Amino acid sequence: MDGVTVIGHPLVQHKLTIMRKKETSTAGFRRLLKEISTLLCYEVTRDLELTTERIETPLVETDAPVLEGKKLVFASILRAGNGLLEGMLELVPSARVAHIGVYRDHETLRAVEYFFKAPDNINERLVIVVDPMLATGNSAIAAIEKLKERGARNIRFLCLLAAPEGIRNFQGAHPDVPIFTASIDSHLNEKGYIVPGLGDAGDRMYGTK
Ligand code: URA
Repeated sequence: MDGVTVIGHPLVQHKLTIMRKKETSTAGFRRLLKEISTLLCYEVTRDLELTTERIETPLVETDAPVLEGKKLVFASILRAGNGLLEGMLELVPSARVAHIGVYRDHETLRAVEYFFKAPDNINERLVIVVDPMLATGNSAIAAIEKLKERGARNIRFLCLLAAPEGIRNFQGAHPDVPIFTASIDSHLNEKGYIVPGLGDAGDRMYGTK
């Protein structure tokens, strides 16, 4: 599918299967989410630009590669996005973090923002928006609208599971934003859950159900 990268790494797929199981505990789900998010982070940053820096090893001076540009921003869509942050920050400890709370008003269909806090200069940074589930796509679309209104131009979206309906909706709104996911599942059910899915990601990671 154009614009969508499915991260098929065997460790990602294996961990995802355990996360899907209904008998996996809250503690197990959280641990796996942290592990899998580190692997997903590795893949979503695979093509970052490098430059070189002159350094001195104990033996010689040499030009060694370092990341180019300003620090990355990880933008978490509340609340489930926070579950992906921990592992990602372990891999990129200097990343900046944005938190976005949005919902779609059912009557007006407008995105209502109830929380937004982002670092400065997001127009000059790569922003990786994270939310485990791309279901209808509505909250991801709304969150990215808000980031774009604040100047973000270089954006990627990372999730664990995506529904085909959500991908279509998302790409209709933000064709410039590549999607990275561990799986494209079958469909959305009548309640908006991804099938086969893993249930409510927020409830599973926080034990709220
Ligand atoms: N959000 C979830 O947490 N799970 C789904 O299946 C869909 C949306």
